Amino acid sequence: MGSLNLTVNGNRPPPRPLDVMISGKTRGVETVDVERVREQIPGCRSAIYMNTGWSGPSPKGVVEAMKDRLEYESYEGPTSPPVYESGRVIQQEARAAVASLLNVSSHEVILTQCTTDGLNMALNGLSWSEGDEVITFGLEHSSVLVPAYRLQERGVRVKALPLQPGDSGEDILARVEEAITPRSRLLFFSHIEYTCGLRMPIEDLRALTKAHGVLMLVDGAQTAGHVALDLRALDVDFYSIPGQKWLLGPDGVGAFYVREDLISSLNPVRVSGHAAVSYDDRGGYESNANSINKFLLTTSSAPLALGLTRAVGFYRELGAEAVERRALALSKLLKKSLSEIPGVTLMSPTEDRRSCGLTSFRIRGVDSNDAVARLWDDHRIVVRYVRELSCVRAATHAFNTEDEVGRLAAAVRGLAQ
Ligand SMILES: Cc1ncc(COP(=O)(O)O)c(C=O)c1O
Repeated sequence: MGSLNLTVNGNRPPPRPLDVMISGKTRGVETVDVERVREQIPGCRSAIYMNTGWSGPSPKGVVEAMKDRLEYESYEGPTSPPVYESGRVIQQEARAAVASLLNVSSHEVILTQCTTDGLNMALNGLSWSEGDEVITFGLEHSSVLVPAYRLQERGVRVKALPLQPGDSGEDILARVEEAITPRSRLLFFSHIEYTCGLRMPIEDLRALTKAHGVLMLVDGAQTAGHVALDLRALDVDFYSIPGQKWLLGPDGVGAFYVREDLISSLNPVRVSGHAAVSYDDRGGYESNANSINKFLLTTSSAPLALGLTRAVGFYRELGAEAVERRALALSKLLKKSLSEIPGVTLMSPTEDRRSCGLTSFRIRGVDSNDAVARLWDDHRIVVRYVRELSCVRAATHAFNTEDEVGRLAAAVRGLAQ
């Protein structure tokens, strides 16, 4: 993949209006060279793509690497020694790329199918006792709520606390603190709420859960590739991410992090030979309890792992902070434009530290599902409907432009009339 030609420090063209909005000053701030980035993402040209919170369009380098690998495997024979050996290396490199992205060790990361896969490994891998409690929030994604609710069948009590897009960090913290009892074992929530983009007060929640000896499982579906992550600093216990959303990787691959000292406390739910260090033909085996490899099954896709590595590389060339700032700045611009349209209600937080590149809104008198359909049919704008808040959600990634934001706002103004 070619260099993205980031413009850093003095070496840059005149600042765009957005740079000024991002920081109030542009000197010393790394920015994204948007046109160069867009050249590498064909999906930017076929539509106004504002749905990376669901699945993002991949850069050419990601797609081509996967295509080449797929051909290589098929045409050279998947188990011929060079193909097989390079496939193993690709898997290891993908793990290393994710571990480095998250600032953790490769021994603490496993590739998964998607975010939900990793969440299940934690939830269903813990040993539960009758009366144990899981605390979560009623506004969560179904991949949080439904797997948590199913634990009720094992005697676990699930407390789904109320949560609103405009809640302050202090309110959220106070609610969790009140819900914690000596039976509370796990706090389970999304780092960024998918409905509205609310950034949860994760550092404070970690401090609180630690003080009470409560484990923390975090759904990072909306963070990886969107906001800078340092899991070592956050000191979370379990964290699951997708490849296909803000990271712009392929569908079908994600990653799950387990802090090293907790690996032995999780049992693999789906089991292969990797769950044993050794076994015999009379029922004996030695468990591979301390290795995250116990979660591996057997055959896995090297093209997908390679796609993920390339996607992580692309994102890191852009710069995590630069992407985060630009996603937020575009969202702020969108919020400002939408708030000037009579009949439009914003459903996302406006305070910077609680906000990100997700912007949710309703249009008075227009069903949000219809609005999503009309934005596509009439304007080729890709956004999504969010059932929980009956709203439209637009995701602004670093590759989106101010012009696209303006076109979405204009289209919404048209619908609002
Ligand atoms: C917060 C959250 N959790 C989980 C998911 C499901 O993600 P995946 O398809 O990677 O399992 C999504 C998808 O939008 C999400 O936003």
